Amino acid sequence: MTKKEQKIQEGLENVIACKTEISRIAVEDGKGILEYRGYPIEELAEKSTFEEVAYLLLFGELPKKYELEAFSEELKEKRELPPQIIGLLTHLSPFSHPMVVLRTAVSYLGTMDKYIHYRNHDVSIEKAKSLIAKFPTIVAYFHRIRCGQKLVHPREDLGHAANFLYMLRGEEPNEIEVKAMDVDLILHADHELNASTFAARIAASTLADIYACIVAATGTLMGPLHGGASQRVIEMLREIAVPWRAEEYIKRKLNKGERIMGFGHRVYRTVIDPRTLILKRLAEKLAREKEPKWYQISIAVEDAVYKHKKLYPNVDFYSASVYANLDIPDDLFITVFAISRITGWTAHVIEQYENNRLIRPRAHYVGEIRKKYIPIDER
Ligand code: COA
Repeated sequence: MTKKEQKIQEGLENVIACKTEISRIAVEDGKGILEYRGYPIEELAEKSTFEEVAYLLLFGELPKKYELEAFSEELKEKRELPPQIIGLLTHLSPFSHPMVVLRTAVSYLGTMDKYIHYRNHDVSIEKAKSLIAKFPTIVAYFHRIRCGQKLVHPREDLGHAANFLYMLRGEEPNEIEVKAMDVDLILHADHELNASTFAARIAASTLADIYACIVAATGTLMGPLHGGASQRVIEMLREIAVPWRAEEYIKRKLNKGERIMGFGHRVYRTVIDPRTLILKRLAEKLAREKEPKWYQISIAVEDAVYKHKKLYPNVDFYSASVYANLDIPDDLFITVFAISRITGWTAHVIEQYENNRLIRPRAHYVGEIRKKYIPIDER
């Protein structure tokens, strides 16, 4: 194929940009597939914990019992924030979006790392563990600071999911809440070459430091077409307010040509996202224990969107009712995604460093060419 004949793949749709051993997504036999390092997401969500999945993504294998214990201990030891970061969280405007705060804190953490430019495997793994451990603390501390509440420090006897809810809410979550949070974190941990992970890999391909890569990823996740969708979903559910208004609302939005947040997916176009099926069951379980209306409205929205647009919900759709029933404030929804996805991002950055080729695609120039330069006084 000559250069002229090369087809432009807008949005890089279906373009294979790199090899990865971290996760696989596919549509096979009419079913959406997601595997982390070869293990089906359904089994991981049922049988493992977030810490186990983080280990799997970073090291490539499921941990033995003693390895998981040591890894979990290390995460616990790294949870507390340096006083400079707490100072930063105190100084930032309480009206800042928590995702903006998170990416600012990541950048600040980079200034405090003497070995910021070291990229060998072991050093990168240490940095990854530190970021995974600190993400929940940054989010919870900022939330409490902006609400004028006292900080709730990490508790060593609590796992990653339970400790996050505890630091955020100031009281220990119950077993059902912990399981829901843990499964949600497992489901969001990696998803092949989604936009934020690609952003991280592009930065890594220039051999930028890991903090720079994660800042690129957190910035990219925030967009409403990516992780920002879940916040828009809860705002929509609040607007609809009761299930019987859902169909009318959806029809109106679609007629105006608007997108319904939490629906559609670049890869799972014709099938349901496998994570959605698990999240829907979680949302239903929480609805039985706590506030049922989020789940009830969500079901009505799902039916209406399928009826009028034949689109399936994606991972962000039922996350919204899960988070609402975990008493997580709306503008923290994206940060929960980031608290989980930091595992995938760091695993991908390390993979990119270890088999690197600069990511530098081309653009097809469609502007004017060979124009005559006109001196400024003659324009
Ligand atoms: N609401 C309404 N219509 C949607 C839609 C949505 N959420 N998602 C896709 N569509 C429609 C498009 O309008 C288009 O319809 P048409 O063929 O009648 O014009 C068709 O489905 C294909 O959409 P396209 O824009 O090519 O899909 P994409 O692969 O570029 O987009 C998303 C993927 C995720 C960006 C898109 O589905 C979307 O915007 N979803 C809402 C945001 C969201 O939930 N993001 C989280 C993703 S995990």
